[in-house]
Amino acid sequence: MAGGNSAARLSEAKESSMIPDFESIRNDFPMLRCGDGSIYLDNSATSYKPDCVIDAISRYYRERCASSGRGNYRKALQVDEELAQTREAVARFIGGSSPEEIVFTHGATDGLNLVAVGYGERNLNPGDVVLTTRAEHASCILPWMRACKKTGAKLEYIPLDKDGRVDLKALAELIDERVKVIVVAHISNVLGYVVPIRQICDLAHSVGAVVMVDGAQSVGHINVNVEEMACDFLAFSAHKMCGPTGIGILFSTSNLMREMNPKELGGGSNINYSENGEFFLRNPPYLFESGTLPLAEIFGLRVCLNYLQDIGIDNIEKRIKELHAHAIASLSDINHIQVFNTDDETGIITFNAQSVFADDLAQFFDSRGICVRAGQHCSRLLAEQLGSISTVRASIYFYNSHDEIDCFAKTCSQATNRNVYDYIFSSERI
Ligand SMILES: Cc1ncc(COP(=O)(O)O)c(C=O)c1O
Repeated sequence: MAGGNSAARLSEAKESSMIPDFESIRNDFPMLRCGDGSIYLDNSATSYKPDCVIDAISRYYRERCASSGRGNYRKALQVDEELAQTREAVARFIGGSSPEEIVFTHGATDGLNLVAVGYGERNLNPGDVVLTTRAEHASCILPWMRACKKTGAKLEYIPLDKDGRVDLKALAELIDERVKVIVVAHISNVLGYVVPIRQICDLAHSVGAVVMVDGAQSVGHINVNVEEMACDFLAFSAHKMCGPTGIGILFSTSNLMREMNPKELGGGSNINYSENGEFFLRNPPYLFESGTLPLAEIFGLRVCLNYLQDIGIDNIEKRIKELHAHAIASLSDINHIQVFNTDDETGIITFNAQSVFADDLAQFFDSRGICVRAGQHCSRLLAEQLGSISTVRASIYFYNSHDEIDCFAKTCSQATNRNVYDYIFSSERI
């Protein structure tokens, strides 16, 4: 099986500290091996999954199917063991110090909401300030808009510089004791910049505020270490890093988790309750995990972490940067293409073609077998900064190839107003 061969190749590469062969890694992905041959550049939305992750999910249903935390028979206890090991593996993967700092969620959105509801709505008061930026994803900013509305706290924006990066100087001037929470993405899903989380946390902690990091675009793409960043909360999804959909992680310290209410109550999160309405909840992280967990996905996540670690996060980051640099160099003399973030440090290229609507441009790419995304990318407040209500986003992951980037650049060079609208209005399409 391709996944198995590749795992052997990867550990050989690791032993001899070689860079993995990214061309042969492509064979691990059924969507690349036997898909429709299209070039997938929408990795910021979701990533492809390698065989080993798909097999792990299927193995749970075929060989391991039992619930967790509820059975005393061996099969159920094995599931409990897998769950505990995955919690430990996740903590190690993000540099956490204990599995008790890891909550299983349904994804980044779920984790971001859990903190806004469980921590924000419990601890914010009228007059308090929550700081964020206009570059944030809807899943990051909307839960805090609601938390502010409910509590009387105020949502304020950290200024961005002319390129759309967080302006640390402006933040230092803005921050004072009124600020209780800073909510920010580690990597913007539109501009791809790596946000200086450590400096933001140092500023926040100097006034007693906590920092919630949206790691949806960073975990599995660059090295993420919660201790080095000194962040208080980190939420991310498995599906953007080769893992399954429907499973995500919320990291926080045990102390802060004690200051949070669970969003939901139910089976698995309580110790006891009585008919007079008294109930007693388990300690964190378990009180945040009511109901049956997405167990097949957790099995998949565990394997996904091993897979990424075998390749090496540093190698993944380097590979993405290399492909990105190749793309930017290839686009540099195409005059009708405007790139909004040429010096992005990750794999996101946000662009438009002169006199072409972004949606039409994305359809033109699709006609050439290239998947890119058009619109506001769930970051509606960034439109003014970009000076464009809609853009096209191509997002690269490590399994993309230089040939694919060449094809993307060639399609950019062909994406003139004339060619795009000849295609859009062609009788063939109607
Ligand atoms: C920066 C950012 N935050 C949050 C999310 C939400 O992630 P999910 O849909 O997996 O919950 C996304 C998804 O695109 C994102 O890019």
